[in-house]
Amino acid sequence: MKRILITGGAGFVGSNIAVALKQHMSVAEIVVLDNLYRKGSSLNLPRLEKNGIKFIKGDVRNPQDIATAGKIDFLIECSAEPSVLAGKDGDTDYLVQTNLYGAINCAEYCRKNNAGMIFLSTSRVYPIDPLLNCKLVEKSSRFELSDKQDVPGLSSKGVSEEFPMTGARSIYGATKYAAEIMLEEYRQAFSLPIVINRCGVIAGPWQFGKVDQGIAVFWLASHMFEKPLKYIGFGGAGKQVRDMVHIDDLIKLVILQLSDPAKFAKGIWNAGGGRNISVSLLELTEICSRITGNKVQIGSEPQTRYADIPVYISDTRKLNSFCGWKPAKSIEKIIEDIHNWLKDNKEARQVLG
Ligand SMILES: NC(=O)c1ccc[n+]([C@@H]2O[C@H](COP(=O)([O-])OP(=O)(O)OC[C@H]3O[C@@H](n4cnc5c(N)ncnc54)[C@H](O)[C@@H]3O)[C@@H](O)[C@H]2O)c1
Repeated sequence: MKRILITGGAGFVGSNIAVALKQHMSVAEIVVLDNLYRKGSSLNLPRLEKNGIKFIKGDVRNPQDIATAGKIDFLIECSAEPSVLAGKDGDTDYLVQTNLYGAINCAEYCRKNNAGMIFLSTSRVYPIDPLLNCKLVEKSSRFELSDKQDVPGLSSKGVSEEFPMTGARSIYGATKYAAEIMLEEYRQAFSLPIVINRCGVIAGPWQFGKVDQGIAVFWLASHMFEKPLKYIGFGGAGKQVRDMVHIDDLIKLVILQLSDPAKFAKGIWNAGGGRNISVSLLELTEICSRITGNKVQIGSEPQTRYADIPVYISDTRKLNSFCGWKPAKSIEKIIEDIHNWLKDNKEARQVLG
């Protein structure tokens, strides 16, 4: 592969993929395009430059900006407004224009260049109601998914690609789902190797986490800076659960997919930490306290927020059996790596502090 464009490449996922590809793959050139919308993304620019990665300040909403990247062989689409709450409380138009039209503009650019594409989609494409009403077992530190569920594609192993897709999924989730649908059409109509990964929470160093997005960094940083936190929703006890995938494990999948994109350019792939790499807020508090040595005051707000769900676990058996990919880095390792990054990086601490 000669030339790869990473859109949203100054963000958490995009910058980590860019640096890793440059270091581990024999790609002649990696170009990153980002409009630096996310607070903290500009701190990734020196890192990209140090690794010989070209940066273009540009916007995926504007096809002319994307075209300044020149001829490409592959595109990894990592740009987004990735916050679920942004759709309701933020700039809904920006969210739709970036997440949906931006992804279509990227696909159109792939079509012009006869290039392949990897799209970072989200578990948030799954409708909310069946996840809110799923059968749970309440344990001392977390909710667990019961073995017996009424919905296809749902089990104690999590949500599989067979989960029914009818129903509201948040405006954020809808932009990503609509983008998936369009990309499947581009894949079919123009025979492009377009790969779609539905990720659960992705976490690790260089994520500028905030209260509504990037929970692992937000929780750890709040412990480091001894800021009060709150368990919100589901009774306010902190038992809600998410799986997390370390960015390094996701990069392993991306490298595998880049080695044979056509093989992965069919259907959809759930790519998350799975049951073994999942955590409740209560458990996350314990891990963050242990690693930082700090205890913070944690309030409780029982009322569940817009679009929130009690548990999300990715059932990744389809991907595991197809290519052997399995995330390996534990929740403890994720939090330790974030802690070490923040200890060493004053500028990042200033953004998060
Ligand atoms: N982080 C997660 O937990 C997670 C989970 C599932 C899916 N995803 C998906 O992974 C992708 C990357 O997310 P992330 O965590 O790196 O988010 P991020 O906010 O760190 O990175 C996104 C980047 O896109 C840029 N951007 C925003 N609008 C843009 C526009 N109009 N034009 C060009 N650039 C723009 C931002 O400046 C930012 O640098 C997103 O598509 C997101 O939906 C993330």
